[in-house]
Amino acid sequence: MESRAKSVVLGVTGSIAAYKAADIASRLTKLEREVQVVMTREAREFITPLTLQVLSKRPVVSDLFDEKEGWQPGHIELADRADLLLIAPATAQIVAELAHGFASHALAAIALATRAPILLAPAMNGKMWLHPATLENVEVLKRRGVKFIGPEEGLLACGYEGVGRLWPVDGIVEAAEGMLAEKDEG
Ligand SMILES: Cc1cc2nc3c(=O)[nH]c(=O)nc-3n(C[C@H](O)[C@H](O)[C@H](O)COP(=O)(O)O)c2cc1C
Repeated sequence: MESRAKSVVLGVTGSIAAYKAADIASRLTKLEREVQVVMTREAREFITPLTLQVLSKRPVVSDLFDEKEGWQPGHIELADRADLLLIAPATAQIVAELAHGFASHALAAIALATRAPILLAPAMNGKMWLHPATLENVEVLKRRGVKFIGPEEGLLACGYEGVGRLWPVDGIVEAAEGMLAEKDEG
């Protein structure tokens, strides 16, 4: 009997840690999840869609208006199909957009339209993470049931030491699998 919740939308945003999304996509795909990568325009500055497309074994979505098939808007179909929305890495920008309900690009629109559980793995400069604006946005999202993993402390790519590093990939994959298992049971 196949009852496993399978469909993961993997959102990738414009952080220096975006290259680690390749490993996350690969790991979840090997665990037989259907991984649909959705990238922001800025994420494409850090990692090519081709890499993520090959590792996830399906075309990457990044343009809200790139509608090739079907009658239903692609972002709504993805939002409905998703068993989990995982955004890794999640920038300060996407955290703010989700907290305020913006929907100006594919990933933000999916986040607003989906009723799947949401897991965010933030990565940013420590001062950005600890800014009251970001902390308030995180609180708003937590109150709505959005789960966070990380960030962790360490040496940041921007040269600072502090909190802001993307949580290790192993932990992110494990947390995603845990949320999918809960969905299976629920
Ligand atoms: C080299 C470089 C690294 C960046 N790294 C991060 C980061 O780790 N986290 C973050 O929140 N923003 C980072 N930014 C800024 C974001 O790319 C910028 O806020 C962008 O608008 C985010 O858009 P998105 O969330 O739609 O992808 C970085 C920018 C540059 C140029």
